[in-house]
Amino acid sequence: MKIRKLRHIDVSEVGMGCMAFSHGYGKIPDETYSIEAIRNAYDHGCTFFDTAEIYSPNLASVGHNERIVGKALKDIRGDVVIATKVMLRGAGFGHVTQTIRSRLEDSLTRLQTDYVDLYYLHRLGGIPVEDVAEAMGRLIDDGLIRGWGLSQVDVDVIERAQSVTPLSAVQNIYSMVERDSESEIIPYCAEHDIGFVPFSPIASGLLSGKITPTTRFEKNDDVRNWVPQLSRRNIEGNQPIVAMLKDFAEAKNATPAQISLAWMLHKYPNVVPIPGSKNKERIIENLNASDVALSDDEFNALEQSLNSLTVYGHRGLGGF
Ligand SMILES: NC(=O)c1ccc[n+]([C@@H]2O[C@H](COP(=O)([O-])OP(=O)(O)OC[C@H]3O[C@@H](n4cnc5c(N)ncnc54)[C@H](OP(=O)(O)O)[C@@H]3O)[C@@H](O)[C@H]2O)c1
Repeated sequence: MKIRKLRHIDVSEVGMGCMAFSHGYGKIPDETYSIEAIRNAYDHGCTFFDTAEIYSPNLASVGHNERIVGKALKDIRGDVVIATKVMLRGAGFGHVTQTIRSRLEDSLTRLQTDYVDLYYLHRLGGIPVEDVAEAMGRLIDDGLIRGWGLSQVDVDVIERAQSVTPLSAVQNIYSMVERDSESEIIPYCAEHDIGFVPFSPIASGLLSGKITPTTRFEKNDDVRNWVPQLSRRNIEGNQPIVAMLKDFAEAKNATPAQISLAWMLHKYPNVVPIPGSKNKERIIENLNASDVALSDDEFNALEQSLNSLTVYGHRGLGGF
C-alpha cells in the first residue's frame, strides 16, 4: 500500500476506523473476530488505526475499543500508527494539562503501549484550543505522543491551535456527500503540512450502494438511525448519487465504496481516509481502494457528475 504523511508521521494511504467493533453500527462482533480483522488489515498493508477512549458499547463506559486495538497491535506496535482521541466535553474536567495527561495515561494502559502516534482532541466543547495545544505540545516534548490533532473544527480553531503547537492532522467528517471541509479547511491543512483524515468517508454506508430505502438499521447503538442522509426519504433522494457511483464502479471494475475513496485520494494528496467496517472482507475491499487509480479525466467526470447532483441530508461540522 502507498504511504502518505500526516506531517512527519508515515501512514498507509487508507487507514482503518475501528469504532464499529465497539460502538455505533449495531451489534458488535466478538473480540476474537475484531482482533483478527485488525490483524488481517495490517497483513494487507494497513498501518493506520483509528480509535478513541469513548468508543464503547452505547458510549456507556470508556476503553472497550482501545483495549481491542491494543490487543491486536501489541506484537507489531513499532510498525503501526495508532490514533486515539480524548473527549473533554462537559463540565468538571479540571485543569486541561493535567486532565489530558492523565486521560492519555489511561489510554496508553489500555492500548498496551508507552506512546500514542496521534492524539486528537475529540471535540472542542468550549475549551480554549490554545490550552489544549499547549498541553499537547508538552506531551510531544515528553515523548508520550508523536503528534496531535483536532476533530470537527474550522479554520479559525485550526489556525489558533497551529500557532501554539503545529498539528499533525485534522479529523473531520468528509465524503462525497459531506464536503464542507473543501472550501477552506483542506486547503489550509495542505498549505500548513497538516494531514486531513476524513471520518465517515463512505457516508456511514450510503456510498457503498448497499443501503436502500427499505434497509432497516439496528435498534441499539446504531448511528445510522440519525445520520441525515440515511433517513428513508433522503436515502431515496440520494439514489441518483448512488446510481452514478455504481456506473462508475462498474466501468472501473471496482466497487462504489472504493470509487468514493479513490475520488478523495485523487483529489487531495494530504487526505488519508479511515473507512470503518466490522466485516473482514469489506475492510480489505476498502483498503484496496488504494489500488483504484483514477485518471484525471475520470476524476473530472466524477466531480462533474457529483456537482450536478443534489445531496439530501447534511451533517456538517457542528453538533455530534
Ligand atoms: N472524529 C469523530 O468524531 C468520528 C466520528 C465517527 C467516526 N470516526 C472514525 O471514523 C471511522 C469511519 O467512520 P464511520 O464508521 O462512521 O463511517 P463509514 O466508514 O463512512 O461507514 C461505515 C458503515 O459503512 C459500511 N461499510 C463500510 N465499508 C463498506 C463496504 N465496502 N461495502 C458496504 N458497506 C460498507 C459499514 O458496514 P459494515 O460494518 O457492515 O461493513 C458501516 O455501516 C470510525 O471507525 C471511527 O474510527 C470518527
